Amino acid sequence: CPANLHFLAETDSTNTQAERLLAEGEHTPFVVVAGRQTAGRGRRGREWFSQDPGNLTLSLALRPQLPPARMQTFTLWMGLSTSLAINELCGVSLKVKWPNDLHWNGKKVAGMLTEARSDSEMLRDLVFGIGLNVNGVTDEYPPEVRRVAGSLREAVGRVFDLNETAAKLICALQKACDTFLEDCYRETFREQWPLHDALTGQEVTVSLADGEIVGEYLGIDETGTLRLRLPDGQERQFAAGDVTLRKQ
Ligand code: BTN
Repeated sequence: CPANLHFLAETDSTNTQAERLLAEGEHTPFVVVAGRQTAGRGRRGREWFSQDPGNLTLSLALRPQLPPARMQTFTLWMGLSTSLAINELCGVSLKVKWPNDLHWNGKKVAGMLTEARSDSEMLRDLVFGIGLNVNGVTDEYPPEVRRVAGSLREAVGRVFDLNETAAKLICALQKACDTFLEDCYRETFREQWPLHDALTGQEVTVSLADGEIVGEYLGIDETGTLRLRLPDGQERQFAAGDVTLRKQ
């Protein structure tokens, strides 16, 4: 895996740092790994809590030639690929929770944030960031995080070598990225997503800017759009950019 690697003991956010390097003209692909983030970002302006040195925070930067609509499937595919790589590493099957989380036993073990600049036709600078809770002991986290967070260590019952885990993850992400850009991911995606889908058979609540909608989760379509059966039997579709899943 020939990734150009930038390791920083501390940074504000690996996504922000990757964006800075892209703006300076750094060759892609490259990866930014941080021992600690002081301003880690989650989706929708949330904070990503990752003070714990036993966890991984990293970002992969690219300049893909893709239409902006492909970004949604990209994140889903990167999440699924991370789950498959972790399964290979330690035998644990993390569930993919649309649009960007990995769960074990109902607890969030990883979160992903893809950010891109695009003109109307093409994505330009793209940064895929992932925070993976590796050795975190969630009992020691702030109460609001403790309720929802899990870690690989808690899932498997052993402490992981962080360097080895980082190397395997970076390698898997790079491969996943290549497969996506070469458009060779679709069959695996179609086959594997349902096997790892955290929401199968669940009633979910999606929150939109103007309210909440409850329905039965029907899966996702080819473009990564979520399909919901509403109480009146009609089907409705939601793009990741429009909604947040609230509870199940
Ligand atoms: C979410 O669950 O809302 C997404 C969390 C994404 C966190 C990762 S940690 C590495 C990268 N840098 C950031 O500032 N955020 C992402």
